[in-house]
Amino acid sequence: MKKIAVLTSGGDAPGMNAAIRAVVRYGIYAGMDVYGVERGYMGLIEGNIAPMTMRSVSDIIQRGGTMLKTARCPEFVTKEGQQKAIGKLKALGVEGLIVIGGDGSFMGAKALSEQGFPAIGIPGTIDNDLAYTDFTLGFDTACNTILDAINKIRDTMTSHDRVSIIEVMGRRCGDLALYAGLGGGAEVIVVPEHNLDIDRICERLQAAKSRGKLSGIVVLAEGAGHAHELADEILKRDASFSIRSSVLGHLQRGGSPSMKDRYLGTCFGVHAVKLLEKGVGNRIVGIKDNKVFDMDIVEGCAMKKEFNIELYNMASVVAR
Ligand code: ADP
Ligand code: F6P
Repeated sequence: MKKIAVLTSGGDAPGMNAAIRAVVRYGIYAGMDVYGVERGYMGLIEGNIAPMTMRSVSDIIQRGGTMLKTARCPEFVTKEGQQKAIGKLKALGVEGLIVIGGDGSFMGAKALSEQGFPAIGIPGTIDNDLAYTDFTLGFDTACNTILDAINKIRDTMTSHDRVSIIEVMGRRCGDLALYAGLGGGAEVIVVPEHNLDIDRICERLQAAKSRGKLSGIVVLAEGAGHAHELADEILKRDASFSIRSSVLGHLQRGGSPSMKDRYLGTCFGVHAVKLLEKGVGNRIVGIKDNKVFDMDIVEGCAMKKEFNIELYNMASVVAR
């Protein structure tokens, strides 16, 4: 292929800019024309597609978010929308598209592939909810952002002998809560994949208190409940606790990408360009056992993520 395009779609994630930079610079190095699409699939349908240069991606590797902006685009879920998008790409002679996004965006890339337009997916979402790859772009940075918040909250909780409920992102996948909860030494981690009812949460907090813990941290994935409601429910069962609750929200999506996310973004971007350079489409790029790889997009998108119950149990034992 001699003409390719790249876009970012869905929730933004730190590391997306590193991937964009690698796609543009390696693509130009390989003798390709590289186009950038603004605002995801919406930009594709609207024809917001412009050539990129080596200088277009200067000074972005250290920045969170996405220089190409992103958007959600219901129209692209329709065949008509997809056909419009393919028409815009073909009008410019673009032969392949790199999509940086999460599971929804990959559904769009799969749709393009099924309509005969080669697409490569790069996993970009802080949720880490794509089963085929060990890690997605943004997950490591978001975990470190949450850890920074847990450390700050722990300072004041220990000063007041309080319990803090900290709500983190992750609608269907609890990896942010699990990994940041483990790293933050949370006494209780609540995720959508593992039902922990409120009575059990209370029992765990009471057991921690009986072991001499005068303060505690509960990390709650948004897909498993809401921090303020959980705090009220715990107090209804045991008014002896002093509880505060925090919802971290969209600060988890920002921040300068960690080394790991800059590394993954760069490797994923180069790998994606090399596939299109060989005329290979309809693949998704990932990392497995520290090795960057690619697999069929239909097969990869069909994989179901398994919850790491061993890690979950380890985290709760070592936080006692
Ligand atoms: P993420 O990629 O972060 O999961 P979304 O789920 O919002 O984000 O998906 C981003 C975009 O991908 C949607 O706005 C839509 O344009 C496109 N998309 C999502 N699902 C499909 C689908 N089944 N078919 C085609 N396009 C889709
Ligand atoms: O998919 C990533 C994510 O950050 C989720 O964890 C979160 O629930 C959602 O996006 C928020 O979406 P929006 O930015 O559209 O509010």
